Order: sequence, then structure tokens, then C-alpha cells
Amino acid sequence: MRVVVIGTGYVGTVTGACFSYLGHHVTCVDTDAAKILRLQRGEPTIYEPHLEALLRLAAERGGIEFTTDLRPAVAAGDVIFIAVGTPPLPSGEANLAYLEAAARSIGASMDGSRFRVVVNKSTVPVGCSNLVETLVREGIGEAHPAEDRSVRFGVASNPEFLREGCAVTDSLYPDRIVVGASDDSTMEIMCQLYAPLVAQDFDPPPGAARPAGMTRVPLVSTTLTSAEMIKYAANAFLAMKIGFANEMANICERVGAEATEVMAGIGLDSRIGARFLSPGVGWGGSCFGKDIHALLHTAREYGYESKLLQASLDVNAAQRHMVIQKLQEKLFILKGRTIGLLGLAFKPDTDDLRDAPSLYIAERLLQMGARVKCFDPIANEACREQHPELRLRYCQSVADLASGSDALVVVTEWQQFRSIDLAETARLMAKPILVDGRNLFDPEAAVAAGFDYTGVGRTPRPRTTPHPPREEGFAARMPVS
Ligand SMILES: NC(=O)c1ccc[n+]([C@@H]2O[C@H](COP(=O)([O-])OP(=O)(O)OC[C@H]3O[C@@H](n4cnc5c(N)ncnc54)[C@H](O)[C@@H]3O)[C@@H](O)[C@H]2O)c1
Repeated sequence: MRVVVIGTGYVGTVTGACFSYLGHHVTCVDTDAAKILRLQRGEPTIYEPHLEALLRLAAERGGIEFTTDLRPAVAAGDVIFIAVGTPPLPSGEANLAYLEAAARSIGASMDGSRFRVVVNKSTVPVGCSNLVETLVREGIGEAHPAEDRSVRFGVASNPEFLREGCAVTDSLYPDRIVVGASDDSTMEIMCQLYAPLVAQDFDPPPGAARPAGMTRVPLVSTTLTSAEMIKYAANAFLAMKIGFANEMANICERVGAEATEVMAGIGLDSRIGARFLSPGVGWGGSCFGKDIHALLHTAREYGYESKLLQASLDVNAAQRHMVIQKLQEKLFILKGRTIGLLGLAFKPDTDDLRDAPSLYIAERLLQMGARVKCFDPIANEACREQHPELRLRYCQSVADLASGSDALVVVTEWQQFRSIDLAETARLMAKPILVDGRNLFDPEAAVAAGFDYTGVGRTPRPRTTPHPPREEGFAARMPVS
């Protein structure tokens, strides 16, 4: 098939590369000429593992092109994905300006030569598929008033669930594919498009192996509105799950329980599941906050006040501030102190800083008169460029960051931080205080290395010899910390 992807951000570039790897011919379109120029040279404009190699393979397989010229791409396309940004407005509502512009331009570029499917992959409020259909229709009407009704198209909603940092493998090996469609022909085309992913009968690209045991991916076919709602409900639930782990961790700290043990203990319950239960400085990124705000806004439009969604936002905001409180408990005065942030990106393996907890923490510390140093293996440059208002000292290594600092804060759990020489790091610091905002380190090892350690929901304390387990089956299943 000839696939067009509008928007070459995190979602659009990865989607385009994957469809092309699966054998479809893909044209990616963006209004940002600088981005397109780099992509034409084979350089991804984002940091995402496997993406550069996949783009190379994609060019050899289905073929992939990058352009700013939407009209010929749409005219030749069978399936047109909209993957533009839907950032939040100050009111919390999703900004639909990019979506609206894309939908209108699609309409204006269509002719009656074939049936096309316009797919909404951007995360959009409930009802936007109807809006897209109307805007495409208006675009057609404005460009070709005479042939308005002869131009045929269907609309699909195909929300994206990829996670930054593992976007390529998430796209090739998804847990499920959700498609809402306006009619049977549209659904049939979407099923054909996704057939290789559903059947999992393609050769995995080098370095991105198929998960063991994966033979088939479920394709969930729904109404347009349900597909839109599934995306919001999934993100709201995941954010709430992390928020729940953080609430429990805060209680654990007060009663002297170890949150990581508690979460491991509840995560073994198959009704709960072990993932997204790590206490820390809270979630960030371009999706959770934006999508919860948008869902709250939609609910309010229908006269419903969602208390759980609001609480999820409040808990997350408080969790970011918890870092400041922990530093105050350790240092009392923050004015004039030097605080080192280990990590800036909102999560490891990405350079994305949108709604990153690091930004809040850095801003508050600066407002309170602290000096803030930072080191992120990938996102230093992005932060320097995107946040010139933050007067941060960018470091090139952990040693540089630790040198002379009064405290270090783990903000992003980059894999490479796990192998830091803790004793050497502590030795370089003015005060060896470690606020482990991601529970990355073993508290006892950190204390043994000379750190005054504090994690999230954990209390370093000498352990007594554990009691022999009473029930062997349960003990065998408990993870060893
Ligand atoms: N980033 C994620 O992890 C993720 C995951 C799932 C869903 N989503 C959703 O997918 C959508 C895209 O997210 P993203 O992170 O890829 O966004 P992004 O900001 O990284 O990229 C959006 C791109 O769209 C381009 N664009 C804007 N208007 C355009 C137009 N009219 N024509 C052509 N290009 C245009 C921009 O120049 C930009 O390159 C959002 O709705 C987001 O909520 C994102």
C-alpha cells in the first residue's frame, strides 16, 4: 500500500519507518523543513534506539520518502495517517490547530481517483474523528467544489501506544492494535495494512528481536469513539498506577515499610501486575499530563467531574516537590547550595524533555537560590536549547557533576547510572547526600559507599537475619532485593 504519514515527530517517524520496513511504500510529510532535510539524509531528529538503522532498512524495503509537499503525497496515497502534535492549551484542552490544518490540507489534496482512508493516530479528544471527517470534507469542498461528492474516503481512529525509548520495538511488537472505523471498507483496509504486524510473519530487524512466545497481535476493532476513549483511558490508568505506587511509598516512609518490597508483593497478584509500580519522582513526558487534562476537560464538557483523574494529577505534582522537601530535610538551607541532577530526560533512552520532572525540580531549586548542575547522557543539548531560561551548569560526566556538589538527585534512571562508582562519587562531593528519586541504588550499598542516602518509600536500616519462610511457594516467588 502507499502510506502517507503527516507529522514526523516521535510517533510519525517511527510509524513511517515501521510500515516501510513491513513492505509498504511510505511518504512522511512535515511542515518543518529543517526536520525533513535531516530525515532525507537518514538522520533521525529524535534520539530513539534502533530508529536510524530501521530508517536505513525501510529505504531498502518498502521505500520511504520525506517531504514538505503534502499534496502529491496525499494524491498518491491509499492510507493517510495524521500524527501531528496535540499539545495542551492553558485551559487543559488539547490544541487541535495542527490536526485541523492537516485534515483540511488532506481534503484539499484528494481527488476522485481512488478510495482513501484518513487515519487519526494523534491522541485527540473524543469526537475528533467526526471533526476530521468534516474538515476533510470541507477541504475537498474548498479545493474542488464541483467534484465534492465524487471524492471518496473513510475515517479511522488508530491510537498509538508506543513508549519513547522503546518506540521501535513497541511498534513492531505491540500488545494490541486498536482500530475504530467509520465503515467496513475502511476497517478492511486497516486490517490489510496491519496484517504483517498481526501475523508477526516478518523477519525482525537486526537488534530488535521479537519477544519470546509472540505469535500474533490482537487487533481490537471498535467504534471511532471507543478507539479514542481507549487511548485516554489507558494513559489515565497507567498514570494512576504510578501515582498509587507513589502514595503507598509515602505511607511506607512514614510507617517504616520498604515500598519496593510492598510493590513487589502486590505486583505478583495477577489482577494488579508488577509493571508501573515503581515509586519515584513521578511521571512526566508529553502524554500523561496532557491526556489527563484533556480527558478531564472532556468529562467537564459533559457535566462530569472526575475526582480520580484530578487526584492523579495532584499526587504527581506533590511527588515532584517531594525532592525539594527531602533536600530541605538533609541540608536545611538550599540557598547557595550546589545540587546536581542525575538525568534530565523524562525517562531513560529518550531526549524528550516535555513535562519532565527535572524541569520542575531545577526551576524550584533555582527559585530557592540553589546552584543547579546537571548531567544527562543524551538530553543536555536539548535542555540547553529548549530551556534557556534555566540557568543550569551542564556537566559532561558524573564525576564533573558530583565534584563540589552538596547533594545529588537521581531524576532519570539511565541504565549507565547503575554502574556509577558510588564511593568515588561520594568522595568528590562537598556533602555526600544522595536523593535517589528513582530508587536506582541499593540503599545499603550507597550507605556503605559513604552516602547519606534517601530513596522514595525506603528507609535504609540494618537488616536482621530474615525469618525462615513459612510457605515455600510464596517465598520462592518473592523477588530478592
Ligand atoms: N510521543 C509519544 O510517546 C506518543 C505516544 C502515543 C501517542 N502520542 C500522540 O501522537 C501525537 C504526536 O506526538 P509526537 O510526540 O510524535 O509529536 P511531535 O511534537 O514530536 O511531532 C509532531 C510533528 O507534527 C508536525 N506538524 C504539525 N502540524 C503539521 C502539519 N499541518 N502538517 C505536517 N506536519 C505537521 C510538527 O512539525 C512535528 O514535527 C500526539 O497527539 C501525541 O499525544 C505520542
